[in-house]
Amino acid sequence: MSFSVPLRQNLVALKAYVPGKPVEELERELGIKNASKIASNENPLGPSPKVLDKLKGQLSQLSRYPDGSAHQLTQVLSDALSVPINCLMIGSGSNELLILLAQMVLNPGDEVIFADPSFVVYPLAAQLFEAVSRALPLRDFKLDMAAFANALTPKTKLVYICNPNNPTGTFVPLLAIEAFLKICPSNILVVLDEAYYEYVEEKNYLGSIQLMRSYPNLVVLRTFSKVYGLAGLRVGYGVGHPDLVAVYQKTRQPFNVNSMALAAAVEALQDKDHLGKVLDLNKKMRTKITEGLTKLGLKPVPSQTNFVYFEVPDAPKLYDQLLHRGVIVRPMGPKALRVTTGTVEETERFLKEFESIHSKAGAKT
Ligand SMILES: Cc1ncc(COP(=O)(O)O)c(C=O)c1O
Repeated sequence: MSFSVPLRQNLVALKAYVPGKPVEELERELGIKNASKIASNENPLGPSPKVLDKLKGQLSQLSRYPDGSAHQLTQVLSDALSVPINCLMIGSGSNELLILLAQMVLNPGDEVIFADPSFVVYPLAAQLFEAVSRALPLRDFKLDMAAFANALTPKTKLVYICNPNNPTGTFVPLLAIEAFLKICPSNILVVLDEAYYEYVEEKNYLGSIQLMRSYPNLVVLRTFSKVYGLAGLRVGYGVGHPDLVAVYQKTRQPFNVNSMALAAAVEALQDKDHLGKVLDLNKKMRTKITEGLTKLGLKPVPSQTNFVYFEVPDAPKLYDQLLHRGVIVRPMGPKALRVTTGTVEETERFLKEFESIHSKAGAKT
């Protein structure tokens, strides 16, 4: 029997999100036990041990729905960020916020601006609501904020700014964001996606939340999936105008963030020692990868995140060769790879395998 219910064509035509290859799948395929995945910008140290302890205590509560208002997490974030509680939105990953914010402002035919390459969920969100994607090329691997300003039209309803940018790891300074906000009409929602905020060391990056006082159309998104190592639990947050937050609270699912995620996020924010260890390891491994690739004659893009982007002559081939050696990285189109910082062992293994593949390829030419 064929299926004859008319599905919305914009959804049928969606290109599915392609996640990094799971470790277990590769191990099964290769018959190995020690594959390493440095493809999805996950935290190699995992969550704080205090978070893990806290979660054990939560297990007895699993028959209960979570706190639908995320009261405790909202309170802790409000204190940490010095923002009122009614400016905070908690989501099942910042991904949920990216989609629900689009749902809140987009009508069919509206335009959505974002960079290319950038986070793949932005065009997906546009297509979900039959909006038109305006994907703007990067300039020197960075978001071109002047191009963003030039791309504004009366149809623009939503702008996604990925800062730092995934996949290139570059950032634009706060001044450039503010210059854009000055030009951008106040009836356009500007979503500043700061999923990698905590990794950034450059001082001229900081301060986006303060901008919200002058630009009520700005929303800042952050996540517990990266530096806090909670990708498996899905929790992210947004800071925005109370009018926007009020509608968000009505459109999200009643219990959108699970109780383990809420408890873990509260605990994660308190453990500054673990955060320090994560940042320290990340910096060392990012330098190691950058220097290792540079020695091979490649030009890794200077990164402010937990991943490094570099152009190569044949990305799918290199990706495949690395896979066969048990190392999963992320191909970014035909000409670039993105590799996440791993543990010392994972990072050294990647560099060793990459160098070996690279020198063999060189020997053939
Ligand atoms: C730029 C960016 N934004 C948002 C997300 C979504 O993160 P999460 O939904 O896990 O909070 C990611 C994840 O990779 C990302 O790279």
